[in-house]
Amino acid sequence: MDFSLSDDHEMIQSAAREFAQNEIAPVAAEFDASGQFPEETIRAAGELGFMGVEVPEEYGGSGLDPISYVLIMAEISAADAAHGTIVSVNNSLFGVPLLEFGTEEQKQAFLRPVASGEVNGAYALTEPQSGSDARAMRSRAQLSDDGSHYTINAKKSWITSGPVAKYVILFAQTLQADGTAAGISAFVVDAEAEGFLRGKHEPKLGIRASATCEIELTNYRCPVANRIGEEGEGFKIAMTVLDSGRIGIAAQALGIAQAAYEAALEYSRERKAFGESIGSFQSIQNKLADMKTRIEASRLLVLQAAWAKQRAKQAGTKNTLNASIAKLYASETCMWVTHQALQIHGGMGYSKELPLERYFRDAKITEIYEGTSEIQRMVIARHETGIR
Ligand code: CAA
Repeated sequence: MDFSLSDDHEMIQSAAREFAQNEIAPVAAEFDASGQFPEETIRAAGELGFMGVEVPEEYGGSGLDPISYVLIMAEISAADAAHGTIVSVNNSLFGVPLLEFGTEEQKQAFLRPVASGEVNGAYALTEPQSGSDARAMRSRAQLSDDGSHYTINAKKSWITSGPVAKYVILFAQTLQADGTAAGISAFVVDAEAEGFLRGKHEPKLGIRASATCEIELTNYRCPVANRIGEEGEGFKIAMTVLDSGRIGIAAQALGIAQAAYEAALEYSRERKAFGESIGSFQSIQNKLADMKTRIEASRLLVLQAAWAKQRAKQAGTKNTLNASIAKLYASETCMWVTHQALQIHGGMGYSKELPLERYFRDAKITEIYEGTSEIQRMVIARHETGIR
């Protein structure tokens, strides 16, 4: 067993680090304060191939593997978690359903522009009354009598990149022409078409530069050709996508935690109290040792989940368990590490002069989106016990 990165992976990691530290880190605080979408740096990330890391080149992506994706996600998120969120939506939540279930035409029409970073994508699963219980969605897609299109009426909330997306993958309960329920299906909808409305822009605690809003579809006409997969296959598609997406969020959490740890380490060497560097005090040393240990455990779980995803892809199996374990552990580690890093900085950690308070605010979302920690525990426990 070899735990070292290959030369290619090391190269990808340093290219992502160089871009993130030179282009994103200097503007992160400014975009966090304004809550503006960082258009320029996101377009630049697209030019480097970071918006469709695992998408084959023929569909506008970079054709790399899941390990490359988590390395890129961690580096970008270490510079700014909001950029990490935007990158993860295009790559995972929008890219995976089309890549794994889309037709050739759908890949060319919708995947290509998003994977190449020309436009943004979004993923609409959550509704005002259904978050964790995703199957309880009420949005409806009614098939027309001539079978040519669906009329979609939907209300979706917490749509990351919703305010800037050109295309959205949307899930809805499907009704056949005679009104028979056909289960949840997945559709690609165009945010610029008639019947699509972007709603309330959500002001947020963290990842403030990643835009979030509600969306509403009223009598939206969706051609049958824009349904992804079979009728009734939508929930399976949504879950398969999250099995990928959760690994990306675990990598995001790892990146934020690493950035907070490095800041705390440096501060503990420089800051003096009672005539000594605070890093010489056992209370600070214990914190640093625990932070480092938990981060390294997260790193191994993230890399293992990415590796397992690759294996599952080749074998045609699922990687649900590893994805949930990595997401659960890395996100809770991230929250804990940013808390400790802020505490080590004392008053300076609470100040907007340093990025610590931003890391702390950004960390929280990793325990919530793409499945809360409670849902990850449920997925893991169901897998282990076999009890649903
Ligand atoms: N892969 C493929 N299929 C799966 C699956 C998976 N990982 N998990 C479940 N399924 C299938 C099951 O096999 C089952 O199929 P059959 O009906 O054919 O047997 C079907 O889906 C239903 O499965 P469950 O009975 O397990 O479904 P459930 O209603 O109990 O829900 C859940 C399971 C794990 C709780 C799921 O609802 C869930 O993950 N909830 C959390 C939702 C979530 O993560 N939301 C995040 C929104 S996206 C987001 O956050 C984006 C953003 O802003 C960036």
